[in-house]
Amino acid sequence: MTNRTPFVGGNWKMNTDATTGNALARALASGLDTSGGVEVAIYPPFVYLSSISQSLAGSDISLGAQDAYHEPSGAFTGEISLDMLKDCGVRSVLTGHSERRHVIGENDTIVNKKTRAVLASGLQVVLCIGETLDQRESGKTDAINEHQTRAGLEGVSRDQLSRVVIAYEPVWAIGTGKTATPEDAQNAHARIRELIATMYDQNAADAIRIIYGGSMKPGNAGELMAMPDIDGGLIGGASLVSDDFLSIIRSSVAQGV
Ligand code: PGA
Repeated sequence: MTNRTPFVGGNWKMNTDATTGNALARALASGLDTSGGVEVAIYPPFVYLSSISQSLAGSDISLGAQDAYHEPSGAFTGEISLDMLKDCGVRSVLTGHSERRHVIGENDTIVNKKTRAVLASGLQVVLCIGETLDQRESGKTDAINEHQTRAGLEGVSRDQLSRVVIAYEPVWAIGTGKTATPEDAQNAHARIRELIATMYDQNAADAIRIIYGGSMKPGNAGELMAMPDIDGGLIGGASLVSDDFLSIIRSSVAQGV
């Protein structure tokens, strides 16, 4: 029995342009009708954040960033600081996304620095974790999730944890059309929640949102989010189609996670 408010995030990755991104944001802002029963955030590319912030004005959708640098300012060519993101209206930041870990090469130390910096700046963090196909096939799913959760949250206080959402995203399911079965995802989420209870306490574990990501779509969102420990979703491909994303958001409210 929980009273966690579902969280649904739309990770646009390196997609959209100024025209399509703003049109998508406006369609979501006008189509969202959840009466506060769900928290929704979108994560557009950095360069469109300011204009999309205008397109979302007056809506209940929060603006998020796909990444941030942990240092406040200085000689870090190409990087974007948390204060810069706040200037653009950002309230939530992804860390540890599998594409940053496995394509860009971020390790646990970097993911932890970024997670702590986001929390120190007062913003919300969505810490992404999850196993690769090899790791899954060799039975290491829970061990990888435990390792990435412990490493990502190292130095994060009990108070700060209220601004943390954990996204379990099995790497083999991201952008592949393959989805974890609701039962497999539920098992992974339940283990992560137990881990949070041992790292913090039972109340913290009961309160934290653990969301699923990896080819979530209108057709499978309902059965995934009906699971007791799945508190929403982080959506890539389907978040680029306003009707699909709105349908997934409605599923999360209907499940009353
Ligand atoms: P997908 O991406 O929904 O396209 O699988 C999920 C994510 O990367 O967050």
